[in-house]
Amino acid sequence: MTDHTPVPYAGPTRVLSGVQPSGALHLGNYLGALVKFAKLQHEMDTFIFVADLHAITVWQDPALLAQQTREIAAAYLAAGLDPKKATIFPQSAVREHADLAWIFQCVARLGWLDRMTQFKEKSGKHKERSSVGLYTYPVLQAADILIYKATHVPVGEDQKQHLELTRDIAAKFNHDFAAPAFFPQPDPLIQGPGARVMSLRDGSAKMSKSDPSDYSRINLTDTADDIAAKVRKARTDPEPLPETLEELATRAEADNLVGIFAALSGRTKAEVLAEYAGKGFGTFKPALADLAVETLTPVGERMRGLLSDPTEIDRILKAGAERASEVAAPTLAEVRKLVGFWGA
Ligand code: AMP
Ligand code: TRP
Repeated sequence: MTDHTPVPYAGPTRVLSGVQPSGALHLGNYLGALVKFAKLQHEMDTFIFVADLHAITVWQDPALLAQQTREIAAAYLAAGLDPKKATIFPQSAVREHADLAWIFQCVARLGWLDRMTQFKEKSGKHKERSSVGLYTYPVLQAADILIYKATHVPVGEDQKQHLELTRDIAAKFNHDFAAPAFFPQPDPLIQGPGARVMSLRDGSAKMSKSDPSDYSRINLTDTADDIAAKVRKARTDPEPLPETLEELATRAEADNLVGIFAALSGRTKAEVLAEYAGKGFGTFKPALADLAVETLTPVGERMRGLLSDPTEIDRILKAGAERASEVAAPTLAEVRKLVGFWGA
């Protein structure tokens, strides 16, 4: 996108990611994001937030937003994030995100945002009626990441383009303000079979909160019976599972179910095929349903348990916001100096 050559960044490694409080979480969020967060907290300093500023780029009922924020926090904890290891907080509680986002709006170019495919998908036919925030959404995302000088960003595949934009903004800021290597070039962590979980009704569409059919997704709070029924009714073809990944790749629905099986069991798709090649969905689906029930129902139960005591969640979010501010404030102070603001 740009011709600014990055200079090696010498700061500490740091993980950052977030999920929007804009609806019930599903298996795609769990495998594409939450499971990775829980693993990474043991490897690096980890910051995980609830993206409430991003959520309001489309209408959110003010009476529900705080509770939706607690629900995402509960899902983080239920998926294994430990507030002693990871900093967990609401985005809007750390004001530096929005401050840096404004400065980045003056660094990013219109042409860069014009290429963002997610805006095109989300704004649909009525682009002119979308909020301005929906358009500048990826600039705020860059600020979320760079205010902590994060180096690693675990996300699902749909966020790849936003990470590329973040890298471009970091490089242009470093260049424009003659501060080579001030911001790192963050690496997206997208690998693995859970990075793009597809709808159970249509192997060519992403599993998504906004799909009108609840049978298209497995929600983290679904009961064991719901999960089993959804797997049983998942769309498939009549052929048995193939021997090779090449053949599997030509069958979108089969590929998706094998990918889900692999991600839930911590195996590769090739390993799953080694066990199930030649077997039909009559055998594979019940095994997948059992695995999904076994893995997900305890997560849903933990979420419900945590939500029965919102004061504990609020305590965790407040402590997380304080710790996040301690890291974000010095970065913003440095940025203000670099930009040349009065009093900086
Ligand atoms: P969102 O619900 O859009 O805030 O997404 C939260 C996280 O889940 C992001 O890292 C997404 O990339 C990831 N994600 C969302 N949908 C999927 C999916 N179908 N497969 C894998 N990851 C996903
Ligand atoms: N845009 C992300 C999504 O929809 C959420 C998000 C906001 C995010 N800020 C971020 C993810 C920073 C990673 C890093 O899923």
